[in-house]
Amino acid sequence: MQTDLLEKARIYEEKERRSVRPELPLFHVTGGCGWINDPNGFAPYKGEYHLFFQYYPYELAWGPMHWGHVKTCDFIHWDFLPAALAPDQEYDRDGCFSGGAVEMADGRHLLLYTGVRREECEDGSIRVTQTQCAAFGDGVDYQKAPENPVIGASLLPEGNSTRDFRDPKLWREGDIYYALAANRNRSGRGEVLLYQSDDALHWHFAGIPASCTEENGPMWECPDLFPLDGKHVLLHSALAMRASGLEFHPGNGTVCHVGRFDAQSCTFSEEAVQAVDYGLDFYAPQTLLSYDGRRILIAWMQNWDSSGFPAENLHFIGQMTFPRELHLSGDRLCQWPVREIEACRCNPFSLQEVSVQDELCLQGICGRVLDLSLHIRPGEGGLYRCFTVKFAADAGLYTELTCFPEKGTLRIDRTHSGFPRDVAHVREFPVSFRNGEIDLRLLLDKWSFEIFVNGGEQAASSTLYAPPDAQQIFFSSDREVLLSVEKYDLAAEELPS
Ligand code: FRU
Repeated sequence: MQTDLLEKARIYEEKERRSVRPELPLFHVTGGCGWINDPNGFAPYKGEYHLFFQYYPYELAWGPMHWGHVKTCDFIHWDFLPAALAPDQEYDRDGCFSGGAVEMADGRHLLLYTGVRREECEDGSIRVTQTQCAAFGDGVDYQKAPENPVIGASLLPEGNSTRDFRDPKLWREGDIYYALAANRNRSGRGEVLLYQSDDALHWHFAGIPASCTEENGPMWECPDLFPLDGKHVLLHSALAMRASGLEFHPGNGTVCHVGRFDAQSCTFSEEAVQAVDYGLDFYAPQTLLSYDGRRILIAWMQNWDSSGFPAENLHFIGQMTFPRELHLSGDRLCQWPVREIEACRCNPFSLQEVSVQDELCLQGICGRVLDLSLHIRPGEGGLYRCFTVKFAADAGLYTELTCFPEKGTLRIDRTHSGFPRDVAHVREFPVSFRNGEIDLRLLLDKWSFEIFVNGGEQAASSTLYAPPDAQQIFFSSDREVLLSVEKYDLAAEELPS
């Protein structure tokens, strides 16, 4: 049913999206207007892939959450669809928060999301209630279930929070639906809860696969659990994490646990833990299983700690990462841009073992929508201490990437990228060098950069704010380095849409 609130959002976004926006990134999903945060309902449906997102179309700021909607066949070309959900019912009147989607056995598109309701109590305090709600649709229009909320307080373990109960990730195995949601127990400790259902309307509580540890913050938002390469992976986004070495930064972070999930006992046993992404802007990742069997991840390429500052002249705020294929290498989660991007490459340019020491730019290596691979190895003079790439550079602005083989780290620094506020702009994280050699792949798409190290052992994503004509790239090192470069411009027209 299309309510007035949904209709209003649909009319507004349609009008806003009519004007061509050359400012939009080429490959990264945005709302087209307004604000977006978490990816929601990232899942295959009827031969295509749908992606919803937390959305407030009217302002460049978070507001009562709607679900925006796009779809794609190739993870490159995305079509805007009308907003799918608006906060228009009593049980979700303060927001349709994050959730999942799945194609039902009968062909309907099921959405499961968190309905948020705030009430003022007699004593003036505010009571917030979060419940899980279902909507059924055809890929464009969705009907909220009259039975909503379908997972409410009565299905929580005794004493658990009704205020922090959100972000159900949904999947289907045969005729059974599963939903994994974030919650807090009676002592305030975060837990992820698993639910099961035969019809997506009647659910039962199946267990608590995992609970927060102190380091991983008091609450795990947006959980995801899936099999990968013979093991299981549990992802979550942590509120208020503690910093830990160079692996985890404080605040909103993302964590990947690799281990085994035992469905019988509903327990996850952890074997290894790592950050999902080491950049400045990454939160709330969600994955799908593609029709050809790839586990693909997408995330909000922003972070609550630095997200409230729209760049001047941009009419949108928030974008998704480029979708990434996941695999395990031993216990390590590796990420790599989906292979479909390779069909968008044009103007190839490569150089072999160029000697780099004093800062130089290389003819043919520049641009702002790029796929750039670098292989760095020490020259005859021995190991370098730091090798730096400056990109998105003009006379005054630049963003830097520096390799420190002795420390075994990589540092990204966007202090001089034009960001309007003094929030965190630097991150340094562990990477491996083989006798000083390292491989870096950099995806640049106007307002963002994503780095993949050594075939995807680490990924780091960040936004940047230098004007689009800041296109230069410079290399420098304290000792001679032999640099091999493979550069492609990226153009969506290279692919038939
Ligand atoms: C994570 C989150 C979710 C919530 C949504 C609200 O970024 O806080 O827990 O559902 O954003 O927009």
